[in-house]
Amino acid sequence: MISKEEFIARQHRLLSLCEPESVCVIPAGQVLSRSRDTEFPFRQNSDFWYLTGFNEPDGWLLLSNHSQFSDPYRAMVFRPNDKQAEIWQGRRLGVEAGLAEFALDEAFESGELDGVLTEWLGGHDHVYFPMHSDGPATAKILAVCRELHNAPKENLSPASLHDILPLIHEMRLFKSACEIALMKAAAKITASAHKRAMQFAHPGCYEYQLEAELHHEFAMAGARFPAYSTIVGGGDNACILHYTENQAQIKAGDLILIDAGAEYYGYASDITRTFPVSGVFSPAQKAVYNIVLKAQEAVLDRIGPGMTLSEAGDIAAEVITEGLLDLGLLTGSLSDNLNEQGYRRYFMHGIGHFLGLDVHDVGNYRLDGEERPLQPGMVITIEPGIYISADEDVADEYKGIGVRIEDNLVITATGAEVITQGVPKSVEAIEALMKKV
Ligand code: GLY
Ligand code: MN
Ligand code: MN
Repeated sequence: MISKEEFIARQHRLLSLCEPESVCVIPAGQVLSRSRDTEFPFRQNSDFWYLTGFNEPDGWLLLSNHSQFSDPYRAMVFRPNDKQAEIWQGRRLGVEAGLAEFALDEAFESGELDGVLTEWLGGHDHVYFPMHSDGPATAKILAVCRELHNAPKENLSPASLHDILPLIHEMRLFKSACEIALMKAAAKITASAHKRAMQFAHPGCYEYQLEAELHHEFAMAGARFPAYSTIVGGGDNACILHYTENQAQIKAGDLILIDAGAEYYGYASDITRTFPVSGVFSPAQKAVYNIVLKAQEAVLDRIGPGMTLSEAGDIAAEVITEGLLDLGLLTGSLSDNLNEQGYRRYFMHGIGHFLGLDVHDVGNYRLDGEERPLQPGMVITIEPGIYISADEDVADEYKGIGVRIEDNLVITATGAEVITQGVPKSVEAIEALMKKV
């Protein structure tokens, strides 16, 4: 759990990055309709969650560094306590409890929102809000600013509007000790779920049954939701990078690619493992698998602060290209294949991404026009792959082999710590785990 103090410190830090006489307005997420009167399970907006740890929809966070206050001034807007709504839909924290729970200077009810926004936005020179987001919250803030602008007599229109998300996202990119502990917990749960799926797998099982095994393990270990749509691809389906159909029956002899991660207190894990449904790799599967593993290990051996993700990708691309040339799946010279990116025929995605409250987490990959070197406190994935679709003009034994191996790493002062160690990766360790006794 993240402490109340850490959330408040994040709010203070955010305000310190703003101009003097600023107000920050950060809306919570909203419930989304699934069909008719049913709804998707609520998932809080990651930025609002990062700043508050409050898991109800339709709230607002307001922060001010106006010179009339000696300290940062903090307020939130809450849904009202409403007996009928609480009987039918669920509990609401409400204004009174919210004021105390979040140690706020002021708390308001949703019904007061329009007036509160008019007063707060009108009294500051700068307004920071998610100005490029779709949705009613941004539209409402812009409408209030427009109204203030069109009432020149009161002369209360904020002088400048700013996008708040780059400030929050730069903060989110660097994880605190508490965040790293939560991400390690998510990784541990996810690792045990991948092991469970490997042990359950057998020829004739369905992809969605493996998905169910993973989600069961997530929930039993304390993570109710996956962090993203689980990918279970048997055989050729493994060559569809973000395959989520998960409907097919898996045939004896197929490889299975599972890319799945638990969400724990909002934080994502993102692990991929590839294994044979029958428990033993064919020689062709093993050859391709070991190239991907060697590529991943080459990156993990060298990655650390100062390296860019492109440089990490180049390390993997070289190992993959050498391996594919050895197998005859690529022809020509190593240097030509690297220069012309011939390997992209089989390794067509990036080497990894930032990971955090979102699986493809926020934060700029470039700074001042240059690719940004990794720094301590960033959490990333490293996930090389080789995908040989059944349509490729190659020897039959290689058709329909898709392999990705993905781990999660915390960048440290001296290198990187892999936090997803708990699930086997070598051919021998996977075959040993899958051996039915
Ligand atoms: N799970 C999506 C990805 O690995 O990027
Ligand atoms: Mn990933
Ligand atoms: Mn993944």
